[in-house]
Amino acid sequence: MVRDDAGADDLFRRHQAVLPAWMPLYYELPMEIVAGAGCVVTDGEGTEYLDFYSGIATNILGYGVREVREAVQRQLCTGIVHTSTFYLIRAQVEVAERIGRLSGIPDPVVFFTCSGTEAVETALLLATQYRDSHQIISLRYAYHGRSFGALGVTGDRMWQGRGLSPLRVAHVRGGGRRRGELGSLDDTAYVRVCAEELEETITTSTPGRTAAMIVEPVQGVAGAVPLVPGQLGAYKEVLDRHDVPLIVDEVQTGWGRTGQFWGHQWHEVTPDLMVFAKGGGNGLSMGGVVGRREIMSCLPVPSLSSFGGNPLAMAAVRATIDYIETHALPAHAARVGDLLIEELRRNLANEPWVREVRGAGLLMAVEYAQPGSPAQPAPQMAEAVQEACRRRGLLVGLGGTFHDCARIMPPLTLSAEQAREGARRVAAATKDAREN
Ligand SMILES: Cc1ncc(COP(=O)(O)O)c(C=O)c1O
Repeated sequence: MVRDDAGADDLFRRHQAVLPAWMPLYYELPMEIVAGAGCVVTDGEGTEYLDFYSGIATNILGYGVREVREAVQRQLCTGIVHTSTFYLIRAQVEVAERIGRLSGIPDPVVFFTCSGTEAVETALLLATQYRDSHQIISLRYAYHGRSFGALGVTGDRMWQGRGLSPLRVAHVRGGGRRRGELGSLDDTAYVRVCAEELEETITTSTPGRTAAMIVEPVQGVAGAVPLVPGQLGAYKEVLDRHDVPLIVDEVQTGWGRTGQFWGHQWHEVTPDLMVFAKGGGNGLSMGGVVGRREIMSCLPVPSLSSFGGNPLAMAAVRATIDYIETHALPAHAARVGDLLIEELRRNLANEPWVREVRGAGLLMAVEYAQPGSPAQPAPQMAEAVQEACRRRGLLVGLGGTFHDCARIMPPLTLSAEQAREGARRVAAATKDAREN
């Protein structure tokens, strides 16, 4: 589909005039995506791209998925787009039952929101109320959203702004250990250091009562940095000793993206609260928290989200979960993710600007650094690679604590052939960027 009105450059000018400059746009000449099918999208000029970013991991099944479209159409045809949670919503109850079961949390209760930020905010509200404390522990380099509370627990300076927060927050080590003296530790030793740091933070640097610890199983915005095997379990042991609930943020890692239904399942840990959003509605706005009844029920006042759990979003979520389960997408993501990361590593093996290719399932990143100085991030290279990928018909994202990563999060329906083709294009784009 090619648009017949003015092109992307005119739309870009109008965008700049009326939308905030702090809301970043990708590319020197930003693009308008006007159509999509499977893992391929089309821009306003009619150019097709293999999409390795899926709208920041929201289009988890890809584009134009018949089952989701029909579910949404059926709901639209009832004439009911919204009623509010003051009334019973059948699909909301059904989806809550399914997410509750999928969470593995015993006797779960679910609350729906419209976004990941609102879901994180809800988890923080519940934990602080439950524990009567506003002390939170979070990981360095974490990203948890854009409200005051969510920004407070975010551990990445790029997104924090002035750092005003209603919470008292202590940041401890996350998955990235390659800088400084910890770089040479093996997994077991690193996990021990992290657990000791958490113990010491709780016992010495907090006012004596901690509301919760919030953790992403793979730090997505930080550049797909997975927690080390055993790290989440070691945190949980420490937290349990101090009665501190664990909030797992699955906004980016949920719905099969890492090769398990939830990213924390790689660690065999059951969280006390779990936050989800992004891909659950395959593009429709959704989010929520699932958790232990005792914590989820602790609010002494009424609370609701006008649009959270609305019939249209819930119809999409139900169809998306059905699709993920019927097509065994977590296992598929693990298989194709292994293939993609292998192909990327093979194709990029001799690239002097590539520091690391890492990730889990179909959540990964290529990190760029100055040749010969791996501790010197190369954000300009990551950006040049993203532009070059576009020229070669591939969409990737940007990220990394030092803005030095090309982020890769394709739809989970990616085929093996598309994975190989995409890896070839990333390698060719890296060469283009190096030579220009
Ligand atoms: C781990 C994580 N938590 C929370 C959020 C915030 O979600 P949203 O943008 O839907 O508010 C994001 C968004 O990227 C995220 O990656």
